[in-house]
Amino acid sequence: MNAAMTSFRLASRLSTRARTSPLLSHGRALQSSLFQPQHYSTTPAPHSKAPALHELGSVDHGYTADRIDHIAEPERRAFTYLLLSGVRFAYASTARVLVVKFVSSMSASADVLALASAEFDVGAVAPGKTITVKWRGKPVFIRHRTPAEISTEAGVSLAQLRDEETDDDRTLKPEWLVVLGICTHLGCVPISGAGDYNGWFCPCHGSHYDVSGRIRKGPAPLNLEVPPYKFTGDTKILIG
Ligand code: FES
Repeated sequence: MNAAMTSFRLASRLSTRARTSPLLSHGRALQSSLFQPQHYSTTPAPHSKAPALHELGSVDHGYTADRIDHIAEPERRAFTYLLLSGVRFAYASTARVLVVKFVSSMSASADVLALASAEFDVGAVAPGKTITVKWRGKPVFIRHRTPAEISTEAGVSLAQLRDEETDDDRTLKPEWLVVLGICTHLGCVPISGAGDYNGWFCPCHGSHYDVSGRIRKGPAPLNLEVPPYKFTGDTKILIG
């Protein structure tokens, strides 16, 4: 019984102290001030005045501190223009020289133009003989054909040919045959006056060409090529 009474008194004292504590009083005062309704006014106080824009000053003072006043320094502006003009003129001159050099490098030089075409006098070539000349670094066969050879080649029918071309289509003058000396199989140089058709024989893989330069036997697929040429005289041939 005594123990119960003691516990009851202790609890009463603690409750009383808590209600009278200054810390608790301060907390209650703060809580009441927070939840009190607040009143704000949208009209400025009569004595306040918004500053003008020029009164705010520059945020970036470097602009006003470092800028060049062109109007105040006309001689400096003229010097700047002169300098810029000189630099631009130098650029334009350099570009012009480069363009001229590039364009001139694309046109063929005189020695190249001379090699593009070549003229040969074949007056000394006897009938039945073949000469080999050089044109653009390639061998060219020029054969002076006999009347018998001309008539033999003219009598070959297209059905006998792998690469069908008449003899007439391959010559400007029947007595002269002009063909590139390059085998149409893999590019060897055939031997003149040899082979089964007495025209050219390619020893690399055994191709036989007739006296019109047409493939007649062997692996070569095409006739010997006829280059562009024309007669500049009775016995003068311009190739190219
Ligand atoms: S290169 Fe002439 S036959 Fe092959």
